[in-house]
Amino acid sequence: MLVILMGPPGAGKGTQAERVTREFNLLHISTGDILRSAVKDETSLGKKAKEYMDRGALVPDEIVIGMIRERLAKPDCAGGVLLDGFPRTVEQAEALEHVLKDLQLKNDAVINVDVAADELLSRLTGRRVCRNCSSTYHIKFNPPRVRNICDHCSGELYQRSDDTVETVKERLDVYSRQTLPLIEFYQRKNLYHAVDGARAIDEVFADISAHLQKTKG
Ligand code: AP5
Ligand code: MG
Ligand code: ZN
Repeated sequence: MLVILMGPPGAGKGTQAERVTREFNLLHISTGDILRSAVKDETSLGKKAKEYMDRGALVPDEIVIGMIRERLAKPDCAGGVLLDGFPRTVEQAEALEHVLKDLQLKNDAVINVDVAADELLSRLTGRRVCRNCSSTYHIKFNPPRVRNICDHCSGELYQRSDDTVETVKERLDVYSRQTLPLIEFYQRKNLYHAVDGARAIDEVFADISAHLQKTKG
C-alpha cells in the first residue's frame, strides 16, 4: 500500500501519520523530517536545504525528488508506505509516478487534510516536537502528559524554527501557489480524497481510517 497524505502546513499530516502508520502498519516517510535531520547533522544536503526551510520556501524539486527516489528503493518500503509532505509540486508528483513505475509500486490513495488558514496559525505557533522521536504535540490542543516531555520516549520537546508567525505566513502562501494545483492533478487520476481536518484529532483519524479500509478492500 502506498498512501500520500497532503494538506497545508499545520493541517495535521504528521499527527495523523503517526496514528495511520501504526494502524495500517505502514512506514512513515516525511520529507520535512528527513530534511530537518540532515540540517541537524550538517550534511551537504542539510546545508543546501536550510536556507530554503528557514524562509519557508520549498527545497528545489531535484533535491527532494532524488531524496525520495533513494528512500523508496530501500527494502523496508516493501511492506507499505505513507508519504507525508511529498509531493508538493506538480513536478514532484510527475517524478513520483516514474519512480513508482520503476519500483513496480502503485499509488493507492491521496488524502488531503483540509483546514482553513486562520486555524493553521495557532496550530503551528503552539506546536512542540520531540527532539528524539519527532512525535508532535500542541500546548493547548494536544499537550503531553508532562510539560515539555515526550509521552512516548521521554525526549525533550522543542519548537521548530520555522513555526514563527512570519515564516508560517510565507509557508501558507507557498502552499497556495505551489501545492494546491496537486488537488486537481490527483482528482483527474481518481485518487483524491479530502477529509475535514478542522475537527478533533480522533475524528479526523476515523475518517482517514475508514477511507483506507475501503481502499484496501
Ligand atoms: P514539513 O515538515 O512537511 O512542514 P509542513 O508541510 O509545513 O507541515 P507541518 O509539519 O508544519 O504540519 P503538519 O501538517 O505535519 O501538522 P502537525 O501534525 O505537525 O516541511 C517543512 C519544510 O521542509 C518546508 O517548508 C520545505 O522547506 C521543506 N520541505 C518538506 N517537504 C518538501 C517537499 N516535498 N518539497 C520541497 N520542500 C519540502 O500538526 C500541527 C499542530 O497542530 C501540532 O501542534 C498538532 O498537535 C496540532 N494538531 C494536529 N491536528 C489537530 C487537530 N485536529 N486539532 C487541533 N490541533 C491539531
Ligand atoms: Mg509535519
Ligand atoms: Zn519522543
